[in-house]
Amino acid sequence: MSVLVNVEYEQPGSCTLSQAWARIPDEPSQTRRAELKAHIGAALQQQQAALVAHYYVHPDLQDLAESTGGLVADSLEMARFGKNHPAQTLVVAGVRFMGETAKILSPEKTVLMPNLEATCSLDLGCPLEAFGPFCDAHPQRQVVVYANTSAEVKARADWVVTSGCAVDIVAHLHQQGHKILWGPDKHLGRYVQQQTGADMLLWEGSCVVHEEFKAQELETLMRQYPEADVLVHPESPTGVIALADVVGSTSAILKAAQERSAHTFIVATDNGMMHRLRQQNPQKTFLEAPTAGSSATCRSCAHCPWMAMNGLENLLQELTTPTQFIRIDSELARRAQMPIQRMLDFTAARAQRTPGVGAASGLVPGIGAA
Ligand code: 13P
Ligand code: SF4
Repeated sequence: MSVLVNVEYEQPGSCTLSQAWARIPDEPSQTRRAELKAHIGAALQQQQAALVAHYYVHPDLQDLAESTGGLVADSLEMARFGKNHPAQTLVVAGVRFMGETAKILSPEKTVLMPNLEATCSLDLGCPLEAFGPFCDAHPQRQVVVYANTSAEVKARADWVVTSGCAVDIVAHLHQQGHKILWGPDKHLGRYVQQQTGADMLLWEGSCVVHEEFKAQELETLMRQYPEADVLVHPESPTGVIALADVVGSTSAILKAAQERSAHTFIVATDNGMMHRLRQQNPQKTFLEAPTAGSSATCRSCAHCPWMAMNGLENLLQELTTPTQFIRIDSELARRAQMPIQRMLDFTAARAQRTPGVGAASGLVPGIGAA
């Protein structure tokens, strides 16, 4: 059983609203959840498979990933972990681009997802048929794409970045005198442009979740909690980013919550993050940044409908009778691998230059304190 959720997203270029379907699994009962977790743990062990989960998926999946020797992480850490882990089977609880990145980096491994239809509005809004001609029209620019894209779009790019390394990589390209063509997230692109001063042409994509955070309502909440620090993911609108104490990837947000002296935080990112934030900081208070307000829509729940397609039942099903394999044509994977590997090499070198900053920590000088 699952609930069908109708997700609208903006189709760049035509400015019309298109629709996608997200199938959200029903929440199992408490007893069933315990049973499922035990079966999944045993199946992972028996198959020597590693579960890699994003911070936005259901808390049960995050906890399972951690307790079974897998990983719960941001998209940069997920990519690196899958490649370096000895497991021959990777089970990726997240959205499709994360599974594809894992397969591109480890073509010899089996990569499974609970549901291959879990996608992302940024990926949906940046098809190669439209993005390719945009790149072709600006051949003198370095094409930098966010990891939230298809394998085809990555293969067309010079660089892949995540929110954990975008500022550093674009700053590096800018220093080398390059102009940038950026896709797909316009808010992250604008933020990177502001931080680096690079000449950037932006694609018109956006995230259905982060786009809904409201600056005006956030200001009202900030007045109610003047002592609170505001932590914002850079896929949020410019007006929300402008109010942040810290702007950063999911990992950077977690690190800031642990390291900053504030006891109350207002957090503008998918509310799947609240689980980890509260687990790591039981003595601190975390408030969700507002998505409601006069322009709120049915999408304004601060939770990614595609991340929500990952559940315990479909995860166990994939471990017992797998059908949701990531498959990527080998020549396409070879081309997509190059710009991803550039990102991984860059972040590894950065970690060596900046002791204390893990290669995959998502902590980026310049994308930290705003
Ligand atoms: P991170 O790169 O911070 O994990 O973000 C991925 C994502 O999809 C955010 O919406
Ligand atoms: Fe994509 Fe937004 Fe969902 Fe992240 S939260 S996967 S950017 S739709």
